[in-house]
Amino acid sequence: MTIYSFSQLVINWYHENGRKNLPWQKNKTLYIVWISEIMLQQTTVKSVIPYFKKFISTFPNIKSLNNSTLDEVLYLWSGLGYYSRARNIYKSAQIITNKYEGIFPSNFSDVIKLPGIGRSTAGAILSLSLNFFYPILDGNVKRVLIRYYGITGSVKDKKIEKKLWSIIETIAPVHNTGTFNQAMMDIGALICLHKNPKCGICPLSKRCIAKIKEQWEHYPLKNTKKIFTIKTSWFILIKFNDTFWMEKNTKKEIWKNLFCFPNFDTKEIALNWLKENKINTNKYEKMTPFFHKFSHFILYIYPILIQLSSLKFYKKNKIGLWYNVKKPQRIGLPKPVQTILHNLMKNI
Ligand code: ADE
Ligand code: SF4
Repeated sequence: MTIYSFSQLVINWYHENGRKNLPWQKNKTLYIVWISEIMLQQTTVKSVIPYFKKFISTFPNIKSLNNSTLDEVLYLWSGLGYYSRARNIYKSAQIITNKYEGIFPSNFSDVIKLPGIGRSTAGAILSLSLNFFYPILDGNVKRVLIRYYGITGSVKDKKIEKKLWSIIETIAPVHNTGTFNQAMMDIGALICLHKNPKCGICPLSKRCIAKIKEQWEHYPLKNTKKIFTIKTSWFILIKFNDTFWMEKNTKKEIWKNLFCFPNFDTKEIALNWLKENKINTNKYEKMTPFFHKFSHFILYIYPILIQLSSLKFYKKNKIGLWYNVKKPQRIGLPKPVQTILHNLMKNI
């Protein structure tokens, strides 16, 4: 009986069952793989696909990205979340243009220096595109290893992280590293699910400690339950004909450089702001509040609609614009802003 190594089992599984037709797997240039790997950080394949297609058709290469504006990049990223990724892509395009003559570097130490790229992403880019021998260790791969080797402890523990890197360095094959890495991500995403892993069809089940002990739920140990803090925001929608007043968010890290309705933490501050700007609040319309989930908190949003009959209001010392819903400007808009506009459009 042939005894297959870990990597052989994984690669054999991939040839039969792995994903080979994702949009970023057709022409695996460094540029294509870079954009897809950044988009896939903290985001599922399903949500990424339409964004990836739009992004690549607008920006087929680094040159087009570098010639564009951050607003345009954020416009294409709107709704995908974790916008620092888009800012980092834009910054990277400038660095690559100035430092590497517009060609994405193929050297690990150059790649890892680009903003938004850590060890695992650098390894993914170079292995998936060029088949270079660099292992990866994203959340999915960590879960597979922790279960297979029966590692106890928290995934967040730096010592565990170090141990996992040394394991993956040992088991990743020198040849076919790209296939192995993609296969590990696929097993993590499709088989070794967080809840109810499909051990019955997993190529690693024979020697997987979690499976043998039938205790997969102990690996990895659950993080202490995530506690979401709650924040509130009052969105003031100032409408004039088909336009809404929007301001660029320059201060807060969340939604940085995206445009949003003027927004305030409390109703009182919102009312004061309206008074200061001499906006008549006799006629306002409270819209249905809703919430938006971030990774660490939940934002309760209270939209208030104010229709202006004449255009007296104009806020100077802010980067703002009248956003035209009939002829939308290409700027970054947070998901909840898109949702509100979408709902309002139905009634316009
Ligand atoms: N998550 C991160 N990178 C991925 C990839 N190349 N394929 C599928 N899921 C991923
Ligand atoms: Fe995960 Fe089950 Fe496969 Fe072990 S056998 S790696 S627990 S899916």
